[in-house]
Amino acid sequence: MWGGRFDEPPDALFKRFNDSLPIDWRLVQHDIAASIAWAQELHAVGVLTEDECQRITAGLHEVAEHAESLAKPPVESGLEDVHTWVEHELVQRLGELGKKLHTGRSRNDLVSTDFRLWARACVADRRRELAQLRRAVIDLADRHAHDPMPAYTHLQPAQPVTIGHWALAYEAMLARDSQRLADALHRVDECPLGCGALAGTAYDIDRHRLAQSLGFARPSTNSLDAASDRDFALEVLAVLAACAIHLSRLAEDLIIYNSAEFGLVELSDKVTTGSSLMPQKKNPDGLELIRGKAGRIASAHGQLLMLLKAQPLAYNKDNQEDKAALFDASDELSMCLRIAALVVETTKFDLERCRERASAGYANATELADYLVAKGVPFREAHEVAGRAVRAALDAGRPIEALPLEALQRVHPAIEADAYDVLTLEATLAKRVAFGGTAPARVYEARAAARSRLDAE
Ligand code: ARG
Repeated sequence: MWGGRFDEPPDALFKRFNDSLPIDWRLVQHDIAASIAWAQELHAVGVLTEDECQRITAGLHEVAEHAESLAKPPVESGLEDVHTWVEHELVQRLGELGKKLHTGRSRNDLVSTDFRLWARACVADRRRELAQLRRAVIDLADRHAHDPMPAYTHLQPAQPVTIGHWALAYEAMLARDSQRLADALHRVDECPLGCGALAGTAYDIDRHRLAQSLGFARPSTNSLDAASDRDFALEVLAVLAACAIHLSRLAEDLIIYNSAEFGLVELSDKVTTGSSLMPQKKNPDGLELIRGKAGRIASAHGQLLMLLKAQPLAYNKDNQEDKAALFDASDELSMCLRIAALVVETTKFDLERCRERASAGYANATELADYLVAKGVPFREAHEVAGRAVRAALDAGRPIEALPLEALQRVHPAIEADAYDVLTLEATLAKRVAFGGTAPARVYEARAAARSRLDAE
C-alpha cells in the first residue's frame, strides 16, 4: 500500500502494534458505502469512465457480501486496516482497475467519513434502546402513579413521594440524554470525504453532492480541520457517559431499596445471582455491573479527550485509538440500557413497606407547620412548634398523627382535630400540586406528557 519508498518490511512486533483491522473491522460496510459514493464522484470528474465506475461499484458490492459472510475480522490477510482490506479485495477482483479507486482520497478523510457513518448509526441505536427503557419507566409510573414511597436527601428520609414520581425523575434524565444525542447528530452529520490527507483533493469533486449521496447534511468546511477533527466522537461519547452516570444512579437507588434494611423493592430472579457460600443471598449483580460499567464508559470519554489533547494539526496516528474508546463505550452502554429496562420491567415494589417507610421518619412535620401557618401562626414559630411535636412524638415512640389531640394541643393550642387530616400520607402527597410536584394528579399528567413526548420522538 505504501511500500514504494521502503527497503525493509515493518518489524513483526511493530506491525502488530500498528495494525487496526481487528478494531476497525466494524467499519467495513461504511467504508464500502463511502467508496461507492467516491467512485461516482471520480466518474463525474472524468477519472473513471462510466464502465469503470460500474465495474468498481459492482466489485465493491461483491466485497460487501464477502465481508458480510466473514465471522471475524480477516486478520490472517495481514492487511493494516479496514480501508486497506477493502481496496485489496477490490484489486483481487478487478485487477489494475481496482487500483484507481484511491485516486484523490486519503485514508485520513476516509476513516473520518466511515467513523461518522458509524456514529450516526450508533446514535440511532442507542436512542432506540433509550426509548425502550423510557417506555419501561413510564409503564412503572403508570402502575404506581399514586402509591407512596419515601424519598431521601442525604439518604435520610425527607418527604414522601409517589413511586410514579420517582420513576419519572429517571425518565426526565433519560429524555435529556436522548435529546443530547439527537443534538450531537448535527455535528456528526458532516462529510469529510474529499478533504484528502489534509489539504483538500486535487480533483474538482462536488463535495456537496458527495455528502448528500452518503446521507450527510453537508460537507465539512475546512480540510485541515476535517482530516483530524474528532469532536463528533467526543460529543457522542460525552452523552454516552452522562447516560451511563444516570443509569448508575438508578442502579444505586434500586440496590439500596432492595437491601434487606430498606426492603422497598424486590429485584427479580432474572437479574440477580445467588452466593456460592450463603444460601440466603440474592445479589443485585445486574445493577452493580451497571454501576461499575458507568466508570468504564465515563473513562472512555476521558480517554478520548486525552487522546486529542495537544495533537498538532492535522491527522496523527494517535487518532487510531479513537475508535476503541467509542466502540467499547457504545457496546457497554447498549447492554446497560437493555439490562436496566429488564430490571425496571421486573422489579416489584413492596407497597406495604413503601407506605410504612413513607409515613415513618416524621416526614409530615412540614405539613403540621403549614397547617399552623394556615391558622395564622408565623412560619418561623410554626416550624418551631412542629419541631416540638416531633420531639413529643419521639418521646412517645410513635408518629405525630398517633399522638392524642390533648398532647398536640399542649404543643400548641391552635392545633385542632382537623390537623389529623393534613397529617395523612395522602394529604401530604396531594398538596404537592404545583407543576412538577408529586401530587398524584400531577404525576398522571407528567406520565401522559412523557409518553406523548416519547411517541413524538
Ligand atoms: N487506521 C487508521 C486510523 O484508524 C486510518 C488512517 C491512517 N492514516 C494514516 N495517514 N496513517 O486512524
